[in-house]
Amino acid sequence: MAMGPDVVRIAAVSDIHYSKDSHGMLQPLFEQITECADVLVIAGDLTDYGMAEEGKVLVRDLTAAVKIPIVGVLGNHDYESGEEEELVKILSDAGVRMLDGDTFETHGVGFAGVRGFCGGFGRGALGAWGEPIIKQFVHEAVNEALKLESALARLRTNHRIAILHYAPIRETVEGEPLEIFPFLGSSRLEEPLSRFDVTAVFHGHAHKGKPEGATSKSIPVYNVALPVLKANYPDRPPFRLFEVRTAEEEDGVTPIGDRRQWGRRSTDRGIAAQQAGENPSPS
Ligand SMILES: [Fe+2]
Ligand SMILES: [Fe+2]
Repeated sequence: MAMGPDVVRIAAVSDIHYSKDSHGMLQPLFEQITECADVLVIAGDLTDYGMAEEGKVLVRDLTAAVKIPIVGVLGNHDYESGEEEELVKILSDAGVRMLDGDTFETHGVGFAGVRGFCGGFGRGALGAWGEPIIKQFVHEAVNEALKLESALARLRTNHRIAILHYAPIRETVEGEPLEIFPFLGSSRLEEPLSRFDVTAVFHGHAHKGKPEGATSKSIPVYNVALPVLKANYPDRPPFRLFEVRTAEEEDGVTPIGDRRQWGRRSTDRGIAAQQAGENPSPS
């Protein structure tokens, strides 16, 4: 395993919903991310209608602004036009690592990503019973969970980060209308996270959900949907920033909530880590 820096900064956002007219929309945000993070996670719904043309607009902004590795998964919107394969190719050709049951390692941190699927949570989760179409629907969530599991099993890093589009727990979709909870995620995605003692999970999709939650095994889950971040942290740029200490297996991710700590990277890494330790709460 290649040795990376002791402290790795992960920026995370999702549901940026780029359209054909979005040129330049998030370029300033991407520039800011490049200044303060070591890797950027984009947890799905990169485009609004899943059109290749939208992907090209996004790639233009990403390549102009982001000089750090980018890793992501597709969201449901990215499938809308049936152009998801072309979309993945456009993003991959631009250097974005798109995960679909795959892994990516950078700076000693391992990422496993899948889109995930819906079906509901806990005792309310839809079961594979009755009509074939229901079984097929449930099978999609089971299949995504299996892909996540086998990707996590391949990571040998001290820290394993899961990237999903759909929520693996109910808590981070709270705030959405109760009627649509079953369409926002699936508990089936939670099992692999516990089995492989994942350090943290990033997801999106629930635009009106809660920014933070935890699995039943206390694994932190972050809903990084752009509208969630705008609503919950109106005084900050709409992305989350986390620190991971790669040398220490026990430590988790530390959200960085203080604007003063942002913009420091590489040479000031030690200072940033110290400050984050003093103020670990995103408030
Ligand atoms: Fe979305
Ligand atoms: Fe979505």
